[in-house]
Amino acid sequence: MSHAKKAAGHRAAEFVEDGMTLGLGTGSTVFFVLEALADRVQGGLQIRGVPTSLDTQRVAGEFGIPLVTLDEALELDLTIDGADEIDPAFHMIKGGGGALLREKIVARASKRVVIVADSGKVVERLGLKFLLPIEVVPFARQVVTRELEGLGATPVMRIAGKDEPYLTDNGNQILDTRFKNGIEDPPALERTLAAIPGIVESGIFVDLAHVLVVGSENGEAEVRER
Ligand code: A5P
Repeated sequence: MSHAKKAAGHRAAEFVEDGMTLGLGTGSTVFFVLEALADRVQGGLQIRGVPTSLDTQRVAGEFGIPLVTLDEALELDLTIDGADEIDPAFHMIKGGGGALLREKIVARASKRVVIVADSGKVVERLGLKFLLPIEVVPFARQVVTRELEGLGATPVMRIAGKDEPYLTDNGNQILDTRFKNGIEDPPALERTLAAIPGIVESGIFVDLAHVLVVGSENGEAEVRER
């Protein structure tokens, strides 16, 4: 698996040009993007990045990649991020690593978004294998759970450590949610979820990815444009 992630990550880093302000995604595939960028920064590449998580902030910092806040950057030339599933329309499920909220904000603020993934994440329909992460305000978790059950879904609170609720970088909780037949209409479900008070963000990403870089175990990476 890591050959595929590395192939995708290193190929995607080639989209980065001197002077760019970048959104830096989160996850084990993005790690290889950061690794490749670190080499180029050492060689004189001038970039600055907005991290989408505390994890990425730490790793990018250790790699010597200059970081700025989103407030300082405001508009991003390019974001490179991972995904948990991506369908033929380039709609995605994200948030397996818990960073969906900042990832969506940063993707939206970017002129271009490149997604890095191994081939196992390319699916015909979202949500058949991977549960949809939904970030909720802790105060509202139970009422949101009931609303989701009313939609026919099965939400389960994400746990960290000893039965403690997992907390996102924003202090919220996550409901990993199963939809029995997968997600039939991602844009419609994204709108439905956004209308439920207490849901901060869902991991459905609609119309945000422009380019997909798919890595294979043989070390090759294929670039697909939307
Ligand atoms: C983080 O919250 C997610 O959206 C990640 O982008 C996604 O889980 C991909 O992670 P990996 O590259 O580790 O599979």
